[in-house]
Amino acid sequence: MNKPQGTISRTADSAMGWVNKRLPVTQFYQDHLSKYYAPKNFNFWYYFGSLAMIVLINQIVTGIWLTMHYKPDAAHAFASVEYIMRDVPYGYLVRYMHSTGASLFFVVIYLHMFRGIIYGSHRNPREMIWIFGVLIFLCLMAEAFMGYVLPWGQMSFWGAQVIVNLFGAIPYIGEDLTIWIRGDYVISDATLNRFFALHVVAMPIAILALVVLHLAALHTVGSNNPDGIDTKDNKDATGKPIDAIPFHPYYTVKDTFGIGVFLLLFAFIVFFAPEMGGWFLEHDNFVEANPSVTPEFIKPVWYFTPFYAMLRAVPDKLLGVVIMGAAVMILFALPWLDRSKVRSIRYKGAIWKLMMVLFVISFIGLGWLGAQPGSIAQTWFARIFTTFYFAFFLLMPWWSRMGSTKPLPERVT
Ligand code: HEM
Repeated sequence: MNKPQGTISRTADSAMGWVNKRLPVTQFYQDHLSKYYAPKNFNFWYYFGSLAMIVLINQIVTGIWLTMHYKPDAAHAFASVEYIMRDVPYGYLVRYMHSTGASLFFVVIYLHMFRGIIYGSHRNPREMIWIFGVLIFLCLMAEAFMGYVLPWGQMSFWGAQVIVNLFGAIPYIGEDLTIWIRGDYVISDATLNRFFALHVVAMPIAILALVVLHLAALHTVGSNNPDGIDTKDNKDATGKPIDAIPFHPYYTVKDTFGIGVFLLLFAFIVFFAPEMGGWFLEHDNFVEANPSVTPEFIKPVWYFTPFYAMLRAVPDKLLGVVIMGAAVMILFALPWLDRSKVRSIRYKGAIWKLMMVLFVISFIGLGWLGAQPGSIAQTWFARIFTTFYFAFFLLMPWWSRMGSTKPLPERVT
């Protein structure tokens, strides 16, 4: 429709025209927002992708400000964090936003991955999206691990000691490898320096690049949805998919609402419970690193405890390391393990639902056990849950085909 144009809008149009000839900004905006069609039945579970982006931005921005005052030097690191907390204007806020953001990042990512599994979002044709996702997950774990070393508290030091020593279990190269990672025979200033470089430069670049690839793969094949049926090919006379709506404004508005609710929760934690009773910031880490005093009980932050419980459940060190690594690596294979006739859990049978419930219980159970001292009973529970975790994935080609499925609807519900 041709509207009479005012001088300002004519000037804006010609400025945009000038830019578009040189860089297709409008085309990009249309392809990925205003004319990018997404299924119209997105539900609660579809908030977590945009929330992950918000938390990533929070981590980068607060991280830049922390770097302005932090000192990556074993003699000064702990004191520089105390200085940020007490003397830097709003330093406490920036630090708590960063530490809370780290934990909430994993809350959001675990829920985002869970959504993928229940709706079959990892399956054909979305395998690439999933694979980039698992790579992001690996990088996030490395990023969080190295970040935790930086405040140079007791748990930073001893946690790094335990985890880096695990590489020593690898035959032949293990010992040399641990020295290479640490840059020393023990965790030291050299280790702190390289972890700082990786944490603030290398890993964020890798994560950002992977997120771009993750979204590029998503926009190539289009989003899945809670019904797990294709919406792309069902078009009306004008060629628009009938069960999909333009991402902007519909989902930008929906996501903005989700972000608002999330930020309320975020602010509540930052202001009222930043340590979360020792789950987000451990008590031992308020004591400066001391190589000659081992904390009574060394454990990682909650988001690593499921995998840590698996490591401890195995008596043999090398096998424990292999099991722990395999628990993450097996995620890469998921798109090819799931053989159910339908994508979404909505149309799957009772066996699938039961397996999913048991899986969630095992994973949360492992998370709790990994934060406990590890009594004999706890170790046995960890073994049972670890066995189930692997059975869930390795036997999936069989159990995912068992039982009946419900008929798929023609259109999204
Ligand atoms: C920095 C981390 C991540 C960011 C910023 C991110 C962002 C997004 C966004 C914005 C979407 C589209 C909206 C949505 O479906 O919720 C999405 C979709 C998806 N993501 Fe992620 N993601 C991240 C990590 C992961 C991880 C770790 C996995 C799995 C291992 C994963 C798997 C998927 C899948 C399978 C989809 C397609 C979902 C569907 O179409 O139903 N993502 N991601």
